[in-house]
Amino acid sequence: MAEATEMAGATVLVVGGGGREHAIVWALAKSASVAEVIVAPGNPGTAAEPGCRNVAIEATDIAALIELTMAEAVDLVVVGPEDPLVLGLVDRLTEQNIAAFGPSAAASKLEGSKSHCKEFLLRNDIPTGRSQSFTDSAGALAYLAKLVVPPVVKADGLAAGKGVIVAETHQDAEVAIREILDEGRFGEAGAEVLLEERLHGAEVSILAFCDGERFHIMPATQDHKRLLVGDDGPNTGGMGAFFPSPVADDQLLAEVAKTVLAPTLAALAAEGRPYRGVLYVGIMLTAEGPKVIEYNCRFGDPETEVVLPMLESDLYDIFIACATG
Ligand code: AMP
Ligand code: GLY
Repeated sequence: MAEATEMAGATVLVVGGGGREHAIVWALAKSASVAEVIVAPGNPGTAAEPGCRNVAIEATDIAALIELTMAEAVDLVVVGPEDPLVLGLVDRLTEQNIAAFGPSAAASKLEGSKSHCKEFLLRNDIPTGRSQSFTDSAGALAYLAKLVVPPVVKADGLAAGKGVIVAETHQDAEVAIREILDEGRFGEAGAEVLLEERLHGAEVSILAFCDGERFHIMPATQDHKRLLVGDDGPNTGGMGAFFPSPVADDQLLAEVAKTVLAPTLAALAAEGRPYRGVLYVGIMLTAEGPKVIEYNCRFGDPETEVVLPMLESDLYDIFIACATG
């Protein structure tokens, strides 16, 4: 597909409408291989990039996105956010023989379900915090009563970055458990709750381009997680990002590549769900070494806004190489 389109210049569809997607669109628009970038739904920033056009289709409207891809003879689809990945957009595109940058629904489950993610980490001996899952508040509260230190309370499913409560007291944890399991604060995403050991240390975002088998790690970045001066407020999805990270050197990247990325890609391939796209690992640098807090099955937002401007290679070439293995 790459050869066929190189002469005419490729049409690329970027799905999403955040700052992350603007960064992706900006980098793609610089590629000599790209004729046009369509963004669904995009934002005023993407609309202002030369050679880019917004189309008013939501990132989760899978049927409309497939239709658009056909109508515009799109050569490559790049999926920004997690929801369309978990909904199986890449699987649908693959069925239609359209190159797509992003993991399948089966591989995206690492982000889509925290209990699935935890089981995956444990069975593959990848370092992470201890945790227990519950579907009823009575069980969760009984477990909570036995803990000396308040745990981190996590809704199992996708909750737009708001499903994690870092409890300061047992009472905070109890309120969170009741809100999620009894009051349905996150709907279906909160049908199950994880109570996880609280980890301490600096947090870094490590992203890697993956082609199903191999990976190439990007420089580590950090994002500003907590609201308010002095990090006194609740966690957010990230309010800004920076590079270089003063806490992540080449040695750390090599360690994470060896202890996290390599076994993750090998296990996913062995399970019949090879990982293609960006794999993002959220790492806590604990006194016992780096531990996985989470996987994201996509570029970070806002981390992408500091990572992609550093890229010297052609992003379209990287996307095609990953998408086609
Ligand atoms: P997650 O969605 O699991 O990445 O959690 C969102 C944020 O909550 C993370 O980026 C951390 O800042 C924080 N967090 C999650 N799990 C833990 C943990 N076990 N210990 C301390 N902080 C955590
Ligand atoms: N900045 C955190 C995330 O993209 O999930």
